[in-house]
Amino acid sequence: MSIDEDEILTMDSRVILSDKNQMPRLGLGTWRSEPGKVENIVFEAILNCGYRHIDCAWLYKNENEVGNGIRKALEQSQGKIKREDLFITTKLWNQHHQPEDVEWAIRDSLKNFQLDYIDLYLIHWPVAFKNIKENQWSQNQDKTIRYYAEGVTITDTWKAMENLVDFKLVRSIGLSNFKQSEIDEIINIARIKPVVNQIELHPYLNQQELRLYAKKVNIILTSYCPLANLKRPNEREEETSPLYNPIIEKIAKSKNRTSAQIIIRWHLQHGLTLIPKTVTPQRLYENCQVFDFYLSDNEMNQIDQLEKTHHRRFLNPQVLPPGNKYIFDD
Ligand SMILES: NC(=O)c1ccc[n+]([C@@H]2O[C@H](COP(=O)([O-])OP(=O)(O)OC[C@H]3O[C@@H](n4cnc5c(N)ncnc54)[C@H](OP(=O)(O)O)[C@@H]3O)[C@@H](O)[C@H]2O)c1
Repeated sequence: MSIDEDEILTMDSRVILSDKNQMPRLGLGTWRSEPGKVENIVFEAILNCGYRHIDCAWLYKNENEVGNGIRKALEQSQGKIKREDLFITTKLWNQHHQPEDVEWAIRDSLKNFQLDYIDLYLIHWPVAFKNIKENQWSQNQDKTIRYYAEGVTITDTWKAMENLVDFKLVRSIGLSNFKQSEIDEIINIARIKPVVNQIELHPYLNQQELRLYAKKVNIILTSYCPLANLKRPNEREEETSPLYNPIIEKIAKSKNRTSAQIIIRWHLQHGLTLIPKTVTPQRLYENCQVFDFYLSDNEMNQIDQLEKTHHRRFLNPQVLPPGNKYIFDD
C-alpha cells in the first residue's frame, strides 16, 4: 500500500473506506492529552490548522474536553466548518465488550462529547474485561488481568457494534490492535465489515505483513504512536525514538525539515492514515506542514530498513488470562 506519486496530498486528503465513508489521512491523537490542554489544542487544530480528524477513546477520560474544543471551533468558524466536515473516532473500552454493554458505552461517549453520532467506533483491544466500573486495569501479581471476562467473544462484540450503525449512533465501525487471525474471525461473520484497524506503526515497527494483508481485505490501517516518542522507565527518548535516529535526522536536515515531519511524510507516502498526538501548539502546526515536499524512493527505503536494526513494539500489555501473558508475540 503506497500512494500514487501523482496523487497530490493535502491536509484535506481523505481515504475512502470500504463502507464509502471518507476519513482524513492525517488526524490528531488525544491519548495522555491533559485536561486543561486538550480542549484548546483540539480547538486550534480544527479552527486554525485544518485538522478534521480527531482520534479519541473512552479510556482517555477527556472526551468531554475534546467535545468542548470541537464545539468552540465550529462556533467560532461561523458556519465555515460544519460537524459533517469532521471525522471523530472513539473506542469501545475492554470492560464494555459484553454485547449488552456496547450501546451503553457509545451513548456514554456521545454524552461526553455532546455529539449526536461518531464517525468511527473501534473495538479498542481484542480483549474483554468484566465490567467492573471502579477499576479498569486491576492486575494479578503476575500482571495478568484480574477481571478477564471469560466467554465473551470478539465476534459477539462485533455484532453489537453493527447494531450501532443501524441505530445511526456511529457511521463506521472498525478494530484496533487486532492481528490477522482476529481480523479474519470478524470478517468471517461480519454483516458490516470493519473499515479500519488502528495499530502501533512507526519506522521501528513498520508492520509490513499486516499492511499487505490489510490491502488484500480492504481495511485501512491507522498508525498509532506514529512518532514512537516513547520510552520505558530508565530509558531516554533520545535512545528509543526514531525522532532521534541519525538516518532520519540526516534526511530531515537535507530537506530543512524536522524528524517528525519526515516520519509523518513517510506514513503518508505509504498510504497510511495517522494520528500524531501533541498538546503543544507549535508542534501541532509543524506536524501538518508535510504537504509541500516529497521523500524519494531511496529515502523511503532507508526508513523502511530501520526496523531491521531497531525493531521495537512499545505497547504490548499483559492482559490475557494466565498462560498467554502478552497480546503480541514479538
Ligand atoms: N488504539 C490504541 O490502542 C492506541 C494506543 C496508543 C495511541 N493511540 C492513539 O494514537 C495517538 C498517537 O499516539 P501517541 O500519542 O502514543 O504517540 P505519538 O503521536 O507518536 O507521539 C506523541 C508524543 O510525541 C510528542 N510530539 C508530538 N509532535 C512532536 C514533534 N513534532 N516533535 C517532537 N515531539 C512531538 C508529543 O509531545 P507533546 O504532546 O508534549 O507535544 C507526545 O509526547 C494517541 O494520542 C491516541 O489517540 C491509540
